[in-house]
Amino acid sequence: MKHKAKKRITKWRFDKWAHRYDDSILQHFIFRTSHNMLYREIASNNHNGSKIKILDVGCGTGELAHNLARDFSKAEIYGVDISETMIKKAIAKKGKDNIKFEAGDVEDLPYKDSLFDIIACSHSFHHYLNKDKAMTEMYRVLKPDGRLMIIDGCRDVLFGRIVFDIVERIEKHVYHLLSREFRELFRKSGFNNLVQKRFNFVPLLLTIGTAIKSGR
Ligand SMILES: C[S@@+](CC[C@H](N)C(=O)[O-])C[C@H]1O[C@@H](n2cnc3c(N)ncnc32)[C@H](O)[C@@H]1O
Repeated sequence: MKHKAKKRITKWRFDKWAHRYDDSILQHFIFRTSHNMLYREIASNNHNGSKIKILDVGCGTGELAHNLARDFSKAEIYGVDISETMIKKAIAKKGKDNIKFEAGDVEDLPYKDSLFDIIACSHSFHHYLNKDKAMTEMYRVLKPDGRLMIIDGCRDVLFGRIVFDIVERIEKHVYHLLSREFRELFRKSGFNNLVQKRFNFVPLLLTIGTAIKSGR
């Protein structure tokens, strides 16, 4: 199947899911845990009072973006997602003024170069058909020394391999990386100072890297 056709299927699936996405069991037990983890990472860098720009890629219905906009009042928060229905849901939530959502593809982000201080990406990366292009685009829109934070399912442990093999058989065209594959991808895309954080029993992995732009 061609790249464009696979992407249309991804978009169609999420357009359909958007209406009941926030009530899903995954949202309650997994996605929120990941949002909290990303939130804590961002907060731990003392950004609470600073005028930074944060982009949530594959933002879905905008839960994480809205939480960030509420608590980081001086920051500008952006959310982008390939599913227009997800974006409509995100916009429909009553939020702060410092937030902007738009539909767009990670492989062709609708932003100028070197705009963001931080990019967060939660449970979306395994859907990206061209992961190299996604990384190149996220690197492009990050400022020098900007930080990319990706949290996703990870197949390092046996439980993860079993779960994600099943998910991949059902969903098709998705792939959950090993922690080593994440590290390789970050490095070859221009990121350094890598940090990876695991969860004890849940097969989730947070990978953080800094966009090194000088001397490249
Ligand atoms: C499982 S949801 C996660 C949503 C949200 N980040 C969260 O944590 O609740 C995956 C999201 O990735 C989006 N997505 C998939 N492929 C994408 C692409 N190529 N570009 C941008 N978003 C994409 C989907 O539309 C969907 O909203």
